Amino acid sequence: MPDGSMPRSNAATLPDIDSFFEPNHNEIARQRYVSALRKHVLFDKQGDMEQVYKTQVAPAYKKANGHVPRTGVEIEKAMTGQLSYEVYGSMRYVAQEMVWASVQEPVERVLPDMISVAQRAASEQPAGGSLTLDPAMEIPRYVSALDVHLIPGCFHSEFTQNDVAQGAVVAFGGMVFAGAMGWRQGFKGSYGAVGESVAYYLKSKFPDFKPRRILDMGTSSGKNLLPYADIFPEAELFGIDVGAPLLRYGHAKAEAVGIPVHYSQQNAEATNFPDGHFDLIVSSFFFHEVPVKSTRKILAECHRLLAKGGLMAHMELPPRKNCDAYLNFYWDWDTLNNNEPAYSAFRASDPVALCTDSGFSAATGYEITVPNRASFGDANFAKFMKGEMPAPRHGVGGWYIFGAQK
Ligand SMILES: C[S@@+](CC[C@H](N)C(=O)[O-])C[C@H]1O[C@@H](n2cnc3c(N)ncnc32)[C@H](O)[C@@H]1O
Repeated sequence: MPDGSMPRSNAATLPDIDSFFEPNHNEIARQRYVSALRKHVLFDKQGDMEQVYKTQVAPAYKKANGHVPRTGVEIEKAMTGQLSYEVYGSMRYVAQEMVWASVQEPVERVLPDMISVAQRAASEQPAGGSLTLDPAMEIPRYVSALDVHLIPGCFHSEFTQNDVAQGAVVAFGGMVFAGAMGWRQGFKGSYGAVGESVAYYLKSKFPDFKPRRILDMGTSSGKNLLPYADIFPEAELFGIDVGAPLLRYGHAKAEAVGIPVHYSQQNAEATNFPDGHFDLIVSSFFFHEVPVKSTRKILAECHRLLAKGGLMAHMELPPRKNCDAYLNFYWDWDTLNNNEPAYSAFRASDPVALCTDSGFSAATGYEITVPNRASFGDANFAKFMKGEMPAPRHGVGGWYIFGAQK
């Protein structure tokens, strides 16, 4: 099912929680502006900065040191104070703050309706999923101590009873962030491109693989879990996260579109599922926000939770070892500027070695960049699977994944 499609609906019984989000003319203009600003920074300003690095900074560094910078950290030091880098960084930072600000007011306006439909979803459950919250659960400090990627209130904060605001702000802010604000053209309710691509890759690689249960860790509101319902229709879907507002939002969404998902508020470091409960464990954009010490615990938990033969596929940022020095400088910007302190340490690690350290056999560990299915197209995807076409680089049409098999 290509990204953007949503074949099912329980709209007759439960409205789609997304449908309440109706930004007005000025709000839409602001959201578009923020998306365009981000694009300008990420392409034009980034391009200017790279030019300055290649034509001025690297040659000057070589003259002074006998070699060009060898690491992203060296490039960052050499670029500090360069106008192009300072302009890029400050514009990108401000645009990041504006992403969330641009959706907060329209969310605030319809919050009572969103909360009411989420409560209905929790009591009626027309799709047959479930929502289990644990108000006593301790939020890990790497979530509670800061506003991760500058989202005011981070993932977990609740400002009113049965709050779903963070779920809506993350979901719609994510669309502004990605320049995917097509909700006026029917974007509402589309699936996540990463889940769509990874699920399709797994199905293509292992055509006989029929997971009975699939777990998505750090699922947020399940955007990248929902595509598994189409690609592995026989599987039961489970999503865990520490943020209750995200889970309430995601549960309401899944129930409205008719996909049964069992959401629960749990720390992935130690869950309450029995041993060997899952055949497939996935995650996306998760581990770079988790300190490496906790990543080890989570991967060990994955090992406990997988049945024999079960698979793991985690989409993440590509590690430093796979990128050149300039790309490392580029990717690690978020650690210094975007409230993502664990990001660089994760990228400095070897994700496959982390799997091995956590109990998986080295022989089953893998890493690969898979094409984004929606933009690459199924014909090209088939060529990729046959080794006839490379995947685009991570972040520009490809997604880096790593994992192992139990
Ligand atoms: C960047 S978001 C991931 C988004 C989502 N997977 C997606 O693809 O859109 C990271 C998520 O991990 C959650 N999280 C962080 N630490 C966690 C932990 N120890 N256990 C479960 N969830 C966690 C956060 O609450 C947040 O929702």
